[in-house]
Amino acid sequence: MLILGIETSCDETSAAVVEETGDAARPWAIRSNVIASQVSIHREWGGVVPELASRQHIRDICGVVERACDEAKATWRDLGAVAVTQGPGLVGSLLVGVAFAKAAAAAAGLPLVAVHHLAGHIESLVLENGEMPLPAIVLVVSGGHTSLYLVDRPGHYELLSRTRDDAAGEAYDKVAKLLGLGYPGGPIVDRLAQSGNDRAIALPTTRLTHADRNAPELKGDLDFSFSGLKTAVLRHVREREKALSSSQESRPPFSGQEVADICATFQRVVVTVLIERLFDAARRFQAKSVGIAGGVSANSRLRAELLGRGERREVPTFLPSLQLSTDNAAMIAAAGLRKFRAGVIAPPDLNADAALVL
Ligand code: KG4
Ligand code: ZN
Repeated sequence: MLILGIETSCDETSAAVVEETGDAARPWAIRSNVIASQVSIHREWGGVVPELASRQHIRDICGVVERACDEAKATWRDLGAVAVTQGPGLVGSLLVGVAFAKAAAAAAGLPLVAVHHLAGHIESLVLENGEMPLPAIVLVVSGGHTSLYLVDRPGHYELLSRTRDDAAGEAYDKVAKLLGLGYPGGPIVDRLAQSGNDRAIALPTTRLTHADRNAPELKGDLDFSFSGLKTAVLRHVREREKALSSSQESRPPFSGQEVADICATFQRVVVTVLIERLFDAARRFQAKSVGIAGGVSANSRLRAELLGRGERREVPTFLPSLQLSTDNAAMIAAAGLRKFRAGVIAPPDLNADAALVL
């Protein structure tokens, strides 16, 4: 069976056609995965502007879906279902995909499948690498989320922990902004960090020891927190600016090396925390595999450390390709196929849910 996936939760309009292979170990194959990025629109504002995002989704959605079907050499008659991201995300953006998917499914007489965006990121690992040995621990780390999930059976995702404040990708983007590096900051900080000294400055790591009052069902000790780290970088930058301006007449900008050192140290702290919590959880739940998905999984240091730790601990590690690490519809199609085969279909009056819980 072929499924059409649609993803519009943030600032990428994406449509994909994914097929079932019939191989239980490697259940899905990508026929097409078209992504229209809005980065150039939002860059001017230093972040995603929700109103601009939803208007651009409306302009792009028809052409993106048409191209996805053309590239897959599939007509509406060849499809068996339509899967769409229901949430979480920006509600105006989500609504475009949900409205389009509902209308398309109704017009073509196809079943509709509602997908959680993070289930999509988790299934991106299976899409390219095959089924993960279970139980698995998956870290979903993006601009909006930093969460650990236990996957103990296919399609079942149990939240173990999440960030108490900023997501890791958000911290990357904010640090890049305060260093004047542009948007989105993650890839820029990653690139600059490669020529920096990762012990150049003192930055704090956070370990939470108590449960969050807002989520007493979680133990809390696997939670993340990045806002203190971001503030420490800000304080360091302000102090250095003050020191530079009092020592010279006109304030010079930081040298390239100094910026690289800040990026490298920040990146070391973020990556160390992410990897440590992931493997703490893996040990606690005797995981047979571990994975990292979401936009920040494109990070070079995070990828290298995961692969290194995986080899040393002899636990299989899973990462998406760079193309599937950021938002895309192929992962939504894959998660949709999993749900469809479990017999879960969405009602025709499906609504977008900006705060959908997995
Ligand atoms: O999953 P994604 O495309 O969208 C969300 O659902 O948020 O993730 C985007 C995030 C942004 O914060 C971006 O800065 C970050 O992923 N990112 C990176 C890298 N590439 C993208 N962060 C660190 N290093 C990278 N190489
Ligand atoms: Zn995402």
